[in-house]
Amino acid sequence: MEKLGIVILAAGLGKRMNSKAPKVLHPICGKPMLEYPLEIALALSSHKPIVVIGHGSTEVAKLVGERATTVHQGELLGTGHAVLKALESSTSWPPETLVLYGDMPLLRKETIEKLLEAHRKQKPAITFLTVHSPDPMGFGRVVRDEKGNVAKIVEEAEATSQEKAVTELNVGVYCFQSEWLRSHLPLLKPHPNGEYYLTDLIAIAVEEGSPIETVLLEDREEALGVNTRVQLAMAEAAMRRRINRYWMENGVSFINPEATYVEAGVEIGRDTVIYPNVFLLGRTKIGEDCIIGPGTIIRDSEIGDGCVVEASVVEGATLEREVKVGPFSHLRPGTHLAQGVHIGNFAEVKNSYLGPGTKMNHFSYLGDATVGSGVNIGAGTITCNFDGYTKHPTVIEDEAFIGSDTMLVAPVKVGKKARTGAGSVVTRDVPPGALVYGVPAKVKKWVL
Ligand code: UD1
Ligand code: CA
Repeated sequence: MEKLGIVILAAGLGKRMNSKAPKVLHPICGKPMLEYPLEIALALSSHKPIVVIGHGSTEVAKLVGERATTVHQGELLGTGHAVLKALESSTSWPPETLVLYGDMPLLRKETIEKLLEAHRKQKPAITFLTVHSPDPMGFGRVVRDEKGNVAKIVEEAEATSQEKAVTELNVGVYCFQSEWLRSHLPLLKPHPNGEYYLTDLIAIAVEEGSPIETVLLEDREEALGVNTRVQLAMAEAAMRRRINRYWMENGVSFINPEATYVEAGVEIGRDTVIYPNVFLLGRTKIGEDCIIGPGTIIRDSEIGDGCVVEASVVEGATLEREVKVGPFSHLRPGTHLAQGVHIGNFAEVKNSYLGPGTKMNHFSYLGDATVGSGVNIGAGTITCNFDGYTKHPTVIEDEAFIGSDTMLVAPVKVGKKARTGAGSVVTRDVPPGALVYGVPAKVKKWVL
């Protein structure tokens, strides 16, 4: 039987975000904030976690999906009430309960493991995380007696000036013996603001002589709670530093990591060099020995080993090995470039396959095209793939040579080793080995 049950509190309104979206859905490095504690919860326990959500948070429930049980808190009557609602919803619940927040994305799994370890060694009623900070951040203060034992947690709004001066703060992460928690939550009394505070359980435990343990959080940054857009940006910056450091430790070079934006779902191979002002987004995977030059945005794309991409936008594309792109090109969804393809400047490719060694160096557009190997796409070539109603395919076979400024009016096919003259408007299929020219293009001679 799994020992640990996890409750993630995420019902708060997040008023100070001044947003139409629930707070916990705001992304940090490309991932909704709630994903961070949720992924930790899934890694720490095989028992389905409970996420406490607010009224009408269908979007939050959608994000959570089947991974966790969502419990609607209804009226938001405080952290104690939220945990009570979670436990009430569950009949078979593990003997230990870990409480996490949905808005504390920087908290590390290792930190929680330390908390669990202390809890399992001493087996107190409660083990909770504290942090020393000169900036109280509005957190509850951990009040201790003369012997240094925890006496209670006081919220800032209710603290005396002496208590306010305390620099040991309550992070808001707790591990409880579930039985103790279940029997003591109903003892909480509402505060003047109508809320039931989970933190009051500390004083209750002290009063009845139940042991309490604390674990000190060393990296203060982990305790950052996101309540405002300013804190959102702080969390983003911290997470970005963490992600970039991880990749540097794994053999990736960053010319200026402070100015490089790598989202949480990205993977990067060894000896790849990343220049400033690069955005690697979504489910992007970069191979080894690549150069990702300045001003590049790569989203949901797979880049093979040894590729060079500079000052370009790549979305939903697949690049095999040793492909060169840019500067100033745009690869759109469905682009697949085989080994050794060169895409130069001011080129756009959409939903097209370009075979090995094909070159498309200047001012061109390929849409819905299938291009063979060793093809040269001359400057200014355009696939006229849209007739105003539907999209039509273009096929260009191996080693064809498309002359500068050719318009390929789709659907159309250019045969193997065929050539088009500069300025041709190709409205009919070009047989293999033919040279066509003119408007509309007609066969001039056979080049094979
Ligand atoms: C809480 C702690 C405080 C601690 C601080 C750390 C209490 C009474 N105080 O204060 O000691 O220093 O966290 O961040 O617990 N939530 C619900 N339902 C509710 C109320 C809150 O799900 O009815 C959720 C929120 O969405 C949030 C978390 O619980 O994720 C914390 O709530 P919040 O109101 O931010 O607590 P603080 O006042 O910051
Ligand atoms: Ca808070």
